[in-house]
Amino acid sequence: MNVRITGTGSALPGKILTNAELEQLVDTTDEWITTRTGIKERRIAADGEFTSTFAAEAGRRALAMAGVQPEEIDLIILGTVTPDFPFPSTACIVQDLLGATNATAFDLSAACSGFLYGVSIAEKYIRSGAARKILVIGAEILSRIVDWQDRNTCVLFGDGAGAVVLEASDGDHGDHSLLSTHTFSNGAHWNLLYQQGSGSRNPATASRTIDERRIYLTMEGNDVFKYAVRGMEEAAVKALDANGLSSADISLLIPHQANRRIIDATAKRLGIGSDRLFINLHRYGNTSSASIPIALDEANRQGLLKSDSKLLLVAFGGGFTYASALIKW
Ligand code: ACO
Repeated sequence: MNVRITGTGSALPGKILTNAELEQLVDTTDEWITTRTGIKERRIAADGEFTSTFAAEAGRRALAMAGVQPEEIDLIILGTVTPDFPFPSTACIVQDLLGATNATAFDLSAACSGFLYGVSIAEKYIRSGAARKILVIGAEILSRIVDWQDRNTCVLFGDGAGAVVLEASDGDHGDHSLLSTHTFSNGAHWNLLYQQGSGSRNPATASRTIDERRIYLTMEGNDVFKYAVRGMEEAAVKALDANGLSSADISLLIPHQANRRIIDATAKRLGIGSDRLFINLHRYGNTSSASIPIALDEANRQGLLKSDSKLLLVAFGGGFTYASALIKW
């Protein structure tokens, strides 16, 4: 069974937070943020906007492009580390918002790799015949778990959502076919990037979670940087090898948008020049699981995805998790 991407969509908050505005919040400068990360601004959700708000809107736009009705969807997989609630799943809330009444829906926790992990699971559902139409979403409101007093982290992240519709199609790889997915985990380093508070280890209490500021995301940035470059390279090489391709065959690399230096180092190791690299992190920062589907949707709507071209998607995130997907557009 062939797996085709028939629709892409994204949704972002209207509010823009610039580096200049961050200079008013913490001891930082536009120059530091730009040279160390490549980020110029990010989107921040308003009161009354939730992860499900953007997830549902991105899903709606992907369904509209695919020409698929919500009731036709068999499965909704939502990658997120910032769900509306610990439970029920935000995917179930999105199911309700969309009216996707015939879908099974669940959330997936793989941090910044959540979207590609979701695509990988969806691929297996479709190839096994268990589902024919699947909505995979990556959606985050990271601004609600970022410590706005910590300049090491608060400058990096932003909010938003992206989605794709995957459909079964009989026969050979036609246009927009998913050729392969690969997923990896390295749990030895789970504590280099995590949110300490509000789970079963540090349940919410005023002293432990609030006063000791454990409610927020914490990160060992330098270590994450090194593992991210290695992990993304490994995932990319695995995808190329599995398809008998070399990096010269790739028309566009769409990497997780974490940091310009991570992206450049990964692309350099792969021998992919900036002319074959999609980057939008200067406008959105790191939106974790949402970053790749937002980038894919923007590249698609900008007409950058040419028929028959090969796209390589590669992610790395907390866990650690990393993943890749190869697409024939
Ligand atoms: N403004 C000004 N100075 C800052 C800021 C800031 N916002 N943040 C940190 N600094 C200071 C530090 O305190 C340090 O000062 P010191 O030398 O006096 O102690 C100095 O800048 C250098 O700090 P480093 O951590 O060495 O800076 P580095 O060049 O490594 O950049 C960064 C830090 C941007 C976090 C980098 O390590 C990085 O990008 N790591 C990857 C993290 C990431 O992308 N995480 C996202 C989640 S994982 C993923 O998506 C892949």
